[in-house]
Amino acid sequence: MADKRILVTGGTGYIGSHCVVALIEQGYQVVIADNLINSSVEVLNRIAVITGVKPDFAQIDVADLSALTPLFEQYQFDAVIHFAGLKAVGESVAKPLYYYQSNLQSTMTLLQVMEAHQVTKLVFSSSATVYGPINPVPYTENMPTSATNPYGQTKLMIEQMLMDCALSNPDWRFASLRYFNPVGAHESATMGEDPQGIPNNLVPYIAQVAVGKRDQLSVFGNDYATPDGTGVRDYIHITDLVDGHIKALNFLSEDNNKSKGFTAINLGTGEGTSVLELISAFEQASGKPVPYTVVGRRAGDIATCYADTHLAKELLNWQAQKDIKQMCLDTWNWQKNNPNGYK
Ligand code: WQD
Repeated sequence: MADKRILVTGGTGYIGSHCVVALIEQGYQVVIADNLINSSVEVLNRIAVITGVKPDFAQIDVADLSALTPLFEQYQFDAVIHFAGLKAVGESVAKPLYYYQSNLQSTMTLLQVMEAHQVTKLVFSSSATVYGPINPVPYTENMPTSATNPYGQTKLMIEQMLMDCALSNPDWRFASLRYFNPVGAHESATMGEDPQGIPNNLVPYIAQVAVGKRDQLSVFGNDYATPDGTGVRDYIHITDLVDGHIKALNFLSEDNNKSKGFTAINLGTGEGTSVLELISAFEQASGKPVPYTVVGRRAGDIATCYADTHLAKELLNWQAQKDIKQMCLDTWNWQKNNPNGYK
């Protein structure tokens, strides 16, 4: 892979940074473009500690044509992995225009510059949220999509953008990876999830309760039609998730028609875990209590969500390897060694 140079947008974020480490370890040359709006520049040092390589970094807004174009003039990119984007569901409901402007404009500018420089391979960070509340589980990639919030709408609209581009220019090769619930941290505990402010997501919140940063967890409802009444999700270890991205890059580079055009692929384990099961698993992994109170449901939440993973196995020869216990162990090691994240 030594001759392969990859642009990673959003490469100092939680998923992006773990992907950069995996790419470097696989022999890729990596350039990061990130505006640091939701991440810390300290991540570059952590990447260097783990890999011995500090990737080239451009602190730019990917939506800014005048900032992105020089990057494509400076480097010959083989492909792009596009993580840059806002991703807080609740914030997107409060600030829809901010989300549409940020997530859509960055993608349109990226595609425009890629096309102008004949860079035709893109791996896109999509989300299981595009399956909406209407489909039966396990979700398969051919199911109808919908969204119940502006964040999810931006993922849907970007997938539509990619499909339309692929129809207009047969040179495009797009892999839209639909993440289920990414959790965990690098095994070295040098990198991990570092949410700004109060965590929206379950696992980082549980970790902050276990490390004593938060008093207790609020369980958002225990009256769902699930085995123990709490929400069931498909949690996937971050290193399994990024391995799926490497495999998707290989898929787009295969010299056949299978990866031409637009391909949506689920990245999940195919297993569902409830909130109470996760609390118990985290207490066992950390040896720490996770006190909680059951409160009302969170608006927009669905009862159950987990992946059908056959297509990823068929097209990418990929499947998740790590279980909930490992996800909790790695999350705890990161949290206890970095109680204030990258600060
Ligand atoms: C998981 C479960 C909650 C917090 C979201 C986005 C999705 C993706 C992943 C970006 C649910 C319960 C949570 C808490 C709780 N993000 N919960 N107390 O909602 O499945 O997915 O994050 O791509 O697009 O929608 O993840 O971790 O927020 O919730 O009880 O303090 O934990 O009700 O059942 P979710 P989550």
